[in-house]
Amino acid sequence: MPDIDLDVYLTADDLADGLRADARTGLTASPKWLPPKYFYDARGSELFEEITRLPEYYPTRAEREILSTRAGAIARITGAKTLIELGSGSSEKTRLLLDALREQGTLGSFVPLDVSAAALRAALGELRREYPDLHLHGIVADFVRHLEVLPETGTRLVAFLGGTIGNFTPAERAPFLSGLRGRLSPGEFLLLGADLVKDPAVLVPAYDDGAGVTAEFNRNVLHVLNRELDGDFNPDAFEHVALWDPTREWIEMRLRAQAPMRVHLKGLNLTVAFAAGEELRTEVSAKFRRDGLTAELAAAGFAVRDWWTDQPGRFALTLATAI
Ligand code: SAH
Ligand code: TRP
Repeated sequence: MPDIDLDVYLTADDLADGLRADARTGLTASPKWLPPKYFYDARGSELFEEITRLPEYYPTRAEREILSTRAGAIARITGAKTLIELGSGSSEKTRLLLDALREQGTLGSFVPLDVSAAALRAALGELRREYPDLHLHGIVADFVRHLEVLPETGTRLVAFLGGTIGNFTPAERAPFLSGLRGRLSPGEFLLLGADLVKDPAVLVPAYDDGAGVTAEFNRNVLHVLNRELDGDFNPDAFEHVALWDPTREWIEMRLRAQAPMRVHLKGLNLTVAFAAGEELRTEVSAKFRRDGLTAELAAAGFAVRDWWTDQPGRFALTLATAI
């Protein structure tokens, strides 16, 4: 049985250092904000998996529908020997690609990369049982900072699923896509899952569900701050807010202080004051249109080869080639 390799380019200490710097910058800014990667500690990754099963959260089901109808075509077109997945989480939907690529006989190794060591280890354990003879190579890394660590063997297919591309702002997206293109050779592939612009009556509940799981996920970042920076946030004193911004075409997640408060972060030697109603911005989830995404990919050096959507046209999976 081949071994599971696990490379750690981002240790718990590196992540904690990053959090310290980002929390100081974001919590002293106006408006206050935090970068999204800190949602995903072990608890946050579990809560995200729960989100994917919510009736209101259509993106996971829509993307799975596309993958289940197109995985065979993706395997044929790409003939990939190495499947790399960025922000892989549980790699649950990715099994559809693994199955198709193995059926075809081209796949040699699977390389999931995630900032969440806990989620990655759990996924690798399950994949090992399900695919005993596949070479697995997990990478704990930040896909913004560590793309140079991607292995360079075989024809590569890089999957970036779940609409995670939307968690960048447009200003962050362009360098990410160009940087990724720079790591690939002409003819290699990017499989990109992107959520599409649609009626806010469908979009907003996907980020503000009836059972309150997304609210708990959002507040989890305050638990992370308390634990890592010796803070005294009362997460229950913050209301979860999900807003559709029709100009930027993104969902913005915020945490709104329900009363005035002062929060101490001993690990930063910092006290942060919140006014009643003051909001902390935690995440954007941008939604895309075909023309816009095709142009952004072209600007980064990718040609869209296929554009597939689910039946209702809610979500798109794009297969692009590095040119
Ligand atoms: N691909 C999965 C999970 C999507 S959730 C799906 O489609 O369901 C986003 C994933 O990206 C999480 O697993 C999170 O830990 C990871 N992630 C977020 N920011 C990251 C970063 N900067 N670098 C690497 N992984 C990141
Ligand atoms: N990539 C997911 C998305 O944008 C992440 C996500 C889903 C998320 N629900 C969330 C992030 C709630 C923050 C809060 O759809």
